[in-house]
Amino acid sequence: MSVNLRKVAVVGCGFVGSASAFALMQSGLFTEMVLLDVVQEKAEGEAMDIMHGTALMNPMRIYAGTYDDIADAAVIVVTAGAAQKPGETRLDLIHKNISILGSIMAEIRKRSCQGIMLVVSNPVDILTYYAAKTSGMPENRVFGSGTVLDTARLRTLLGTKLDVDSRSIHAVIVGEHGDSEIVCWSNANVSGVPLADFFALRGMGDQDLTAAEKEIGDDVKNSAYQIIQKKRATYYGIAMSVRRICSAIVKDEKSVLPVSTVMHGAYGISDCALSTPAIVGRNGVEGLVPVTMSEKEREELLSSAKVLKQNMEGIDF
Ligand code: NAI
Ligand code: 2OP
Repeated sequence: MSVNLRKVAVVGCGFVGSASAFALMQSGLFTEMVLLDVVQEKAEGEAMDIMHGTALMNPMRIYAGTYDDIADAAVIVVTAGAAQKPGETRLDLIHKNISILGSIMAEIRKRSCQGIMLVVSNPVDILTYYAAKTSGMPENRVFGSGTVLDTARLRTLLGTKLDVDSRSIHAVIVGEHGDSEIVCWSNANVSGVPLADFFALRGMGDQDLTAAEKEIGDDVKNSAYQIIQKKRATYYGIAMSVRRICSAIVKDEKSVLPVSTVMHGAYGISDCALSTPAIVGRNGVEGLVPVTMSEKEREELLSSAKVLKQNMEGIDF
């Protein structure tokens, strides 16, 4: 079956799926969107609600569908699954969500899906690895939202601290989308200006930079815990991340984004999926971009891979 480049599917219509669908409706990237949920009425209700906005936005067909409807989608966004309760980690979701993803992959496998699968459900790195191994789709076309959201959080907080447009901040988070993630402070810059120099420009010194690295790194890592504590779930930030990734795919932008991909030896890591900067375009992940890291950051990346692999033990891939 050939791909319809103007069609997107969202599997799972909870907080994340519906917010992503709403963001995608507004993006103008697609003319058709299929929503699917194990609770059919949920998909139907979200489709109706979001579709009513199209009269005020872009013409678009939005409907609750079946797996047959999603087979020719350019992007299948998977957001189905249990979410963290206050105090739970993403890794705590593993067994519940592997089982949910298993049922979804069984449906995908039966159809010849030629598009790209974007995994969002948590723990996203382990579920991405699982999807890559079980969907029957080529690895370059199955990847996870990874640390795109964490990196957006980092750039937002740094932009606020430095009173500069966060889009001018070049900084990336690598590793697990979770507690073992790593901020690559060693290569962070503001439009080519090293962070220390930009701090000086704003009247701040090396001590302020060291304190900001710790404070902002911790804030990014704890964002999801804090938001879940306050409002049960996170969904707007990830919805915009999904929209950004879909734009890179549909417009063949070849953007460098820290998505989660199956590793085959880069940075000394294999047999798991995690985030490092990758080129994303119409063919999915078109290659990894080797990011310069300090020795400490490299070691932390290896530890992050170890955490993921330990949590994958006993799972049948
Ligand atoms: P939710 O509980 O609001 O929604 C989950 C939806 O999945 C429900 O509507 C449920 O009916 C549906 N579902 C369950 N089993 C299904 C199946 N077999 N087929 C189709 N649909 C099924 O949860 P929420 O808040 O939307 O979170 C969804 C997932 O996204 C969670 O795993 C959460 O941790 C993750 N997440 C990931 C982020 C990231 O950056 N990667 C950011 C935020 C959430
Ligand atoms: C987030 O980082 C919970 O993974 C989700 O918002």
